[in-house]
Amino acid sequence: MYGYEDPVFRQKEVLSPDYLPDHLPHREKEIKAISSIINSALKNPSSVSNIFIYGPPGTGKTASVKFIFRKLEEETSAFTVYLNCFRVNTRMGALYSIILEFFRKVRPTRRIPSRRGIAYDELYDLLISELRKSRVFPVICFDEVDHLFPRGSEVLYDLSRLKEESIPAQIIMVTNDQFVFMNVDPRIKSSLRPVEEIPYKPYTFKQMKEIIQMRVEFAFHRGVVDEEAIDYLAEVACEMGGDVRIARETLLRAGELAKKDGKYRVTVDHVKSALSESQFAKARCMIDQLSSNEKKIISLIPENGIFYSEFYELYRKVYPQGLKDRMLRYYLERLASYGLISMERRGIGGSYFIRLNVPRKVLI
Ligand SMILES: Nc1ncnc2c1ncn2[C@@H]1O[C@H](COP(=O)(O)OP(=O)(O)OP(=O)(O)O)[C@@H](O)[C@H]1O
Ligand SMILES: [Mg+2]
Repeated sequence: MYGYEDPVFRQKEVLSPDYLPDHLPHREKEIKAISSIINSALKNPSSVSNIFIYGPPGTGKTASVKFIFRKLEEETSAFTVYLNCFRVNTRMGALYSIILEFFRKVRPTRRIPSRRGIAYDELYDLLISELRKSRVFPVICFDEVDHLFPRGSEVLYDLSRLKEESIPAQIIMVTNDQFVFMNVDPRIKSSLRPVEEIPYKPYTFKQMKEIIQMRVEFAFHRGVVDEEAIDYLAEVACEMGGDVRIARETLLRAGELAKKDGKYRVTVDHVKSALSESQFAKARCMIDQLSSNEKKIISLIPENGIFYSEFYELYRKVYPQGLKDRMLRYYLERLASYGLISMERRGIGGSYFIRLNVPRKVLI
């Protein structure tokens, strides 16, 4: 064990957030169901069913879609677009991203139209004419689709309307919230029909253990991770909703701790201390993706919370040229919609009290 360059990790990248395994154990059934809906749409484009995938965090929804998209690109004439609505949440932003992907993948030698100075309708017409000419079959995934509502919802309606132009397109929507469409305009909802629902259930203890074991095998040298440490981690990850993201982050941190103490063995204690950090894995992943305005705002909120009026003064002091009242409120509301902060009105007609939903150390 000591002869290796890294005495703990064999292939640390296996534990990084972007790593997509070649095989997703215990999601074979879901992946097959989604692939067969897409494949039958490819065979018979006049009868496309859209797909709605929902389930708790870290249960492999995004990984499944990326996995399926990789195969589709390799093996079929489908043209896939993956959009994370956390980043792209407006009608124009989503349409433009689809056009960008189209040019990048299907017409790589053509000049990409500039976003500036082009109207939405012009872009939409451009998409129609390009899709008609190229005859590729677009499969578009809106991941974290809840963030698309309400500002960007119309794009779903617009894409569903492609079938009226005899252009088939497959829409996939992914979210944690099974009831996300409850407050969406019925016109948009009905335009998306028919929709096939694919629920993702949390992993059981046995499944979680196997998933962890597989990552351990690839990421660590043999014998580095104690069997009890794996059992303990699988148990806690299941208690925390069957979230593999937490398990993966914990393995990475626990491995680092084992390296630091010089014994090069990952024990239950390492897992325990690593867990206190990795439970915020999802929040950290969201924070990394925030816009610079959102990052500036959230990092000014004190640990114990603050009233809006005081916060406004604090913000203006730090950023005298920064946002004005209305935009500041707008960004705070967005941060609240991500669940990173909460805003509650105190007292009758009182001011908003802003509170962080994650410890401050997660922000850094
Ligand atoms: N069955 C599995 N086998 C191996 N790795 C998995 C499996 N399921 C999930 N993972 C891994 O767990 C992590 C989280 O998965 P993913 O991002 O797909 O979750 P998600 O369901 O999209 O969660 P969220 O709703 O929070 O976006 C990823 O690193 C992914 O590779
Ligand atoms: Mg996801």
